[in-house]
Amino acid sequence: MLHAPITRREALRRTVVFSAAALAGRPGLLRAGQPTSKFKAPGVDLLAFGDFGTKGDKQQTAVANSMAKFAKSLGSPLAAVLALGDNFYGALTPDRFDKHFEKLYSPEYLNCPFYMVTGNHDYGEGKYDLQHGKLKMELDYAKNNPTSRWKMPAKWYSVELPNPAQPLVKIIILDGDFQEGFLTPQEKIEQRHWLQTELKKPTAAPWLFFASHFPLFSDCDKRGDNQALIREWGDLLKQHNVALYFAGHDHTMQHLRVEGYPTSFIVSGAGGASLYDLKPTNRGFIENQHWGFAHIHVAPEELHLQFITAEGDCLHHFQRSKDGSEKVLAAAKVA
Ligand SMILES: [Fe+2]
Repeated sequence: MLHAPITRREALRRTVVFSAAALAGRPGLLRAGQPTSKFKAPGVDLLAFGDFGTKGDKQQTAVANSMAKFAKSLGSPLAAVLALGDNFYGALTPDRFDKHFEKLYSPEYLNCPFYMVTGNHDYGEGKYDLQHGKLKMELDYAKNNPTSRWKMPAKWYSVELPNPAQPLVKIIILDGDFQEGFLTPQEKIEQRHWLQTELKKPTAAPWLFFASHFPLFSDCDKRGDNQALIREWGDLLKQHNVALYFAGHDHTMQHLRVEGYPTSFIVSGAGGASLYDLKPTNRGFIENQHWGFAHIHVAPEELHLQFITAEGDCLHHFQRSKDGSEKVLAAAKVA
């Protein structure tokens, strides 16, 4: 699939400065120093990670521990974790909720709601048992364990953080299983109507994010851009000035800007499963040598996002203003 590079004028307008190493799809390890845990403007802190659902394998555990360590360093509780789908790979047995979620993700330092996104592996494995498979177990676990951090009220839903009375950000969580054939035609229509209604609701939140397992745009060699989702949600991102679009699915970390969109496209799919190859298109920061997660600090006038590795290093840190301009504050260098 071909990607149109952004124009020079567009690049300047956005004031995005990406590391030359990242743009070159560089060899070697990337490091940009310690992550930032103190921010001038008060706000809420979130983590976002996807594609983590191994059976507590080494990399999943390392990312979980790094998330806990970083959350501790913030000094104030996280508002939420966005779990961007592929929550369990392989067969799902009831004990895995406790072993590979409740105990693995520190109850002490990650003591906040985990808003679960539906990934393709959450529908099932192999022939995908759509009605009675894993996804029903995941939805039922949320319903039957209301005190658990595992929050999954439906396949599509919204949250306002830190609370609906005084929200800083509204996050719309969607099921992007379009190309894989998991969402039925009827479900696609239902989700579309729900989304249109949801976007018409008034909100006091200054920021709007979307989250789905599937990227619209991705510099990943395996799949590239998702034309079905671009058709489905692309115009809505523009019309509603969606600041961040979160996805996983492609096992990499990416921060892309695409001409014509106000949105920063984030892929945070390095939560534990094996990493994928890149296919650079000069649209932003791309990384596939580390497992890790994203941290987002949302303040009324600005937000920060940084990618943090399982080893605790920051790879990429940018600040976004309300007008959509971005400034890279830390860029990884070839080690
Ligand atoms: Fe996936």
